[in-house]
Formats: sequence, C-alpha cells, structure tokens
Amino acid sequence: MYRKLAGVCALTLCCTALAAPEPFLEVSLYSQNDPFIRAYGETLQQLTDGSFEVTVNYAQEDLVKEYQQLQLAVKNGAGALIVNPVDPASTHQIIELADSKDLPLIFINREPAANVLNSYNKAWYVGTDSTQAGSFQADMLTRYVLDHPTADRNGDGVISYMLLQGEKGLADTIYRTMSLNHSLDNSPVMFKQEASVYANWQFDQALQAVESFIRQNGIDKLEAIVANNDDMALGALQFLKSQGYNSGDPQKFIPIVGIDATSQALKAVEDGEMIGTVKNDYTAQARAAFRLAYMAMHGKEISQSSTGYYFSGGRSIYVPYVKIYFE
Ligand code: GAL
Repeated sequence: MYRKLAGVCALTLCCTALAAPEPFLEVSLYSQNDPFIRAYGETLQQLTDGSFEVTVNYAQEDLVKEYQQLQLAVKNGAGALIVNPVDPASTHQIIELADSKDLPLIFINREPAANVLNSYNKAWYVGTDSTQAGSFQADMLTRYVLDHPTADRNGDGVISYMLLQGEKGLADTIYRTMSLNHSLDNSPVMFKQEASVYANWQFDQALQAVESFIRQNGIDKLEAIVANNDDMALGALQFLKSQGYNSGDPQKFIPIVGIDATSQALKAVEDGEMIGTVKNDYTAQARAAFRLAYMAMHGKEISQSSTGYYFSGGRSIYVPYVKIYFE
C-alpha cells in the first residue's frame, strides 16, 4: 500500500485524535504486474493538490482481495473510490458498497456494462473507445505493407499475421480485436490471420505463444504480429530478436504493432524494432478520473459543463487514442 500525504501541517496531525478522520481518495488497481496500470497508478498519485490523501492499493488480480481492500477503505473514511476492477463483469458489490455511504465511484480502464454503471447515480467510467485502437493498428500495418512490398516475404500476395489478444471477455480485448479484423478485411492489402492467442496482456505469455507458433510452423509463415497491447508486442519482439529478426537486417524484419505507448514500446518504435503503437493516454485518463473524484468529493455537480468533459451515454468519458507510427 502506498500513501501520498501532501501539505498537511503538523498542527492538523496533532489534532487528529479529536477531529474526524480526513477524507481520502482510494484508488484500487487490478494488478501490479501490469506496466500500463502501474504507470497509471503513479500518475494518479501525483495529482493531489494536498487537500486530501490518495491511497493506492493493488488487488493482485484477486476479486475477494479487491473487495476487502475497498471495504477497509470505506470503513476508514474514504471520500471517493477510483476502481480498476479485477472483473468488470462483477462490479455490483462494489457499487453497493459505494452506495451504502453515498460515495462517488469512478471505474477506470476495465469497463463495466452500461446498465451496471447506470444503476448508481454516483458512478462514472473513464477509459477509451477500443474500436479506435484496432482500426489505427490496421491503418499502420496497411501503410507499412504498401510502403514495403517485401513485407510479403514468401511472395504469395497475402500477409500472414499472428494476433496476440488480451484477457478474454474484456471490452478492450473484444473491441480492439473486432475493429482490427474489420479494418484488415477492408484493407487494400490481403491479410490472413494464421493464429490468434489470448496472452492476457502479458509479455511472457506472448513470447511463449510466438515461440511455439514459430517452432510449429516455421518463421516464414509469419509476416506480421499484432498485439492488443505493448507488453505482449514486446514479448513477441524479444523472441524475434532471439532468432536474429528485427535487429537491423531489413531481410529479417517482421512488422509488429502494439497499443499503449509504454516507454519501452516507444523506444522499440524509435529504434525501428516495432513499426508502431497506439497511445493509450493514461495521463489524460488519470486527470479525468481524478477531476471527477475531486469535484464529487467537494460536493460539486458532475456534468459536461462543470467538468469540461463529454460524457458518452451520460456516464462515460472516452479519451481518444493517438497513432504512433515509425516513418
Ligand atoms: C488495457 C491496456 C493493457 C492492460 C489492460 C488491463 O487498456 O492496454 O496494457 O493494462 O488495459 O485491463
């Protein structure tokens, strides 16, 4: 557990035995093993103006642990909850918990169903429109192949690609994949999906999936790799590099595209090892989530005009993605 306590004077501290506990903002994140989520959490911690604490807890991908941490936070006087749920399909208990104390509840990154969100008038969501990310990936890959006809290494007129998917059933996985497939189907380049594997957002699982595909089918079967996030793209890259690919020889290059724009992926793009990524702007998302929590904790009304954000479906803020392509 990490706490950030900024600008609280000694006088306040010595009087806490008598005063009611200071309200704080509780941030609950599904996993500490996820570099994108860690960066998001660190950003949230930087945002406080010192008028209240921000407490960040990681649920270690455990639904029960997440609920217990939130229960404790509510018991200790949390003034608002920002929750990145372990399982966005089972958030009703979290909503009931917030509702029991009339607390503002902002879900982030892992999107609950709209009807669940609508069931509590102090619940909001901050995330992205995942369909945008998949179509951006398809655009970058198409452009790359049109600019580099030798990308069709076996010369059969088709680009055979492997897809590395995130966690099964999550909105990000479903809509990134759906829009990617739709855009590749409508591309001027012919693409064929040779394999699709759920590597659960994780570097190691992606590395192993690419390794096993190549061992079974040979590296010539693989002409592109698309990953639902950067950590998986980087796992794929690591295996390709171990085979002498994507290491400077233009004859031995397999285009890889990811999503997130983590610092490691940006470096790989800059170094020409990946062709591109899509910026999943966690700084802008953290600011939006924090703003909602801050305003709601201070009793302000949440609306488009009071926050400056557009609310899709009345309760969701979708921060736009940005294409990052290696020229
Ligand atoms: C996605 C992100 C992934 C992973 C996932 C967790 O938005 O691109 O890297 O963090 O959220 O659900």
